[in-house]
Formats: sequence, C-alpha cells, structure tokens
Amino acid sequence: MSAVVAKLWLLALSIYSVACAEESCESCATNLIQKKALARFSETRSVSNKSHIGTNPWDVYDYLAAVHHKSGIYFLHKIAVYMFSTLQIRDEDVGTIITPCYTVCANTQAPVLFMIDMAGPETIQRKREAAKAKGKGLKVYGTVRDPVTMVASAYCYHSRGEEALNVMFLPPGWPEVTMQTMAMQDGVTFAARQMMPMVANMTSLYEKPDKDTYRFDYERATASSENFDEMVSNMLDVLFGTMISPDQKSKCLEAAAWADLRRHPDETDEHTNNEDCEAEARQVFLDSAPADMLAAYRDFQRRLGYPMG
Ligand SMILES: *[C@@H]1O[C@H](CO)[C@@H](O)[C@H](O)[C@H]1NC(C)=O
Ligand SMILES: *[C@@H]1O[C@H](CO)[C@@H](O)[C@H](O)[C@H]1NC(C)=O
Repeated sequence: MSAVVAKLWLLALSIYSVACAEESCESCATNLIQKKALARFSETRSVSNKSHIGTNPWDVYDYLAAVHHKSGIYFLHKIAVYMFSTLQIRDEDVGTIITPCYTVCANTQAPVLFMIDMAGPETIQRKREAAKAKGKGLKVYGTVRDPVTMVASAYCYHSRGEEALNVMFLPPGWPEVTMQTMAMQDGVTFAARQMMPMVANMTSLYEKPDKDTYRFDYERATASSENFDEMVSNMLDVLFGTMISPDQKSKCLEAAAWADLRRHPDETDEHTNNEDCEAEARQVFLDSAPADMLAAYRDFQRRLGYPMG
C-alpha cells in the first residue's frame, strides 16, 4: 500500500472519530450499530425467558453473513439481529468486521459474524476450515441485488454525501474531488469501477448456493410481505433446520417481520434512495460505461439470473 493511501486512511479514520464523538455514531460508516432498532424491538416484543433445551445453533455452526455494500446490508442485518436475539444469543456472540474498521468492528471472532465488503470464495474456504478445526460447520448467508442497481444506488447514496469517508468511494483528487462534486456520468463510472471486485465476490458466493448457503434476494424480499416471510422462512430452514423448534421458528419469523418495510414503513432510514435518482443513474451507467465494464456487469447479472441491461 502506498504512503499516500495509508495517510488517507488515517485521515479518514481520525475524521470519523471526531464525527462519531459528536454525533454518537448515528451518521458514521455503515451505521450497523442498531441500538435504535433494537430498543424498539425489545420494547415491543416479549422475549420469553426460557433457556434453551440442548445446544445453540451457533455452538454447532459458525454463521457468516457475507454481505456487500448496497445489496441491502442494513436490511439483512436487522433481520439477522432480530432472529438471533429471539434465540437469546449473547451480545458477545455477535460480531462485525469491515476494512478499515471505522467505528463498526466488534467481536470479530464471534460465531455469528457480519463480514462487510470483504468476503469472497477464499474467505469462505478459510472460514470453513477454521470452523472445522473447532469441530463446527459453517453457514453462509447474504443479500444479492441486481449489480447495476447496486451501482446506481451507491452513486445516489454517496453523491448526496452519505458515508463521506467510506474509502471505497474516495476519488482521485480527494478531498477536493468527491462523489458530491463529480458529474453523474463520472460518479457512476467511478462507483462501478470501485465496486467491481466486491460485486464479483458477491456473484461468486451466491450464483450457485450450496446447502449451507442462503442467498437472500433483495428484490424478492422487498416486493411483498408474503415474499419477505417466505424468504425468511427458507433462510431459517437453511441456517437452523431442526436445531430450533417450530415454536422458535415462528417466533423468529414474527421478530424478523419488524424489518419488513412494507409492514413498518416508519423503520426506513437514510440508506433508502430516491427512486428517480436510481433510475437516472442506472440509465447513465448503461449509456456511458466503458465497454469492458459494461460487459463485466452484464456477466454478473447473467450469472445471478437478472435480466441483462
Ligand atoms: C426474566 O428473567 C428476569 C431475571 O431472572 C426477570 O427479572 C424477569 O421478570 C423475567 N421475565 C419474564 C417475562 O419472565
Ligand atoms: C473478495 O474476496 C477475496 C477472497 O476471496 C478477498 O481477499 C477480497 O478482499 C474480496 N474483495 C472485496 C472487495 O470484497
């Protein structure tokens, strides 16, 4: 890594810390610390006190959420936190990791781990071996979204100044040049270039999920509450199978439903974009991306089963 890049990281991190001290981390990094959502959840749900019969699923498997920016990370994080909380997991058994850490890394060795913007096939292989060495299996899950929509979404999100210090989106010439100062065409192409290795990882991980992997389709899960429930139910089956009772499963489903924006539109947050912006950014990408980049994104779309274009 060059000295310049290293310095940028340090700068970014120190600015982050200042911002965090002032705003209690609400606007920082990927905003994955969901105290607000959790507080609401524990007020409204009556979690039973009954302790588990037998073993917890996370004693049998490590759970890796391999998630990627703008595919619905926050959405899946909520669902997962509600599920695992329902199963009465301890806080220290849930962790988050991202590079750099910003303010979100925590319990990075936890059995239930969120790995943000850094997991690809080799990561899974490594995690699977590490789990095996502990006598455990590995379950992998994550969101999948149309790669071109992810680019459009990232552009709209960062060009309005969200996560201004996310190192993936600091253009050459930063800090004078930012996603906010770039013209849409440049911003979209820059975002697509930066996101390509990450989207490639997402594609490899979820194009052909095995029996221990769950692909959570963002578009399907947000299309209707019925779809949402069906996908969460299928995910519970893949992740926990018969390790949880039917009663626990229905409690998990009920808790996860708090993350369904169709049922709880007031739970929406700054991660949601203006639809007009996304449609425009998408069109700009399709019209102006260099041919090799467009071909790469079409390949991702094809492998994930999205219509190309
Ligand atoms: C759960 O357990 C705690 C501590 O043992 C107790 O104070 C609380 O009243 C219990 N809640 C329910 C719903 O039984
Ligand atoms: C992609 O996955 C590989 C491991 O397979 C990892 O080393 C790399 O950092 C990942 N890149 C991104 C941008 O997620």
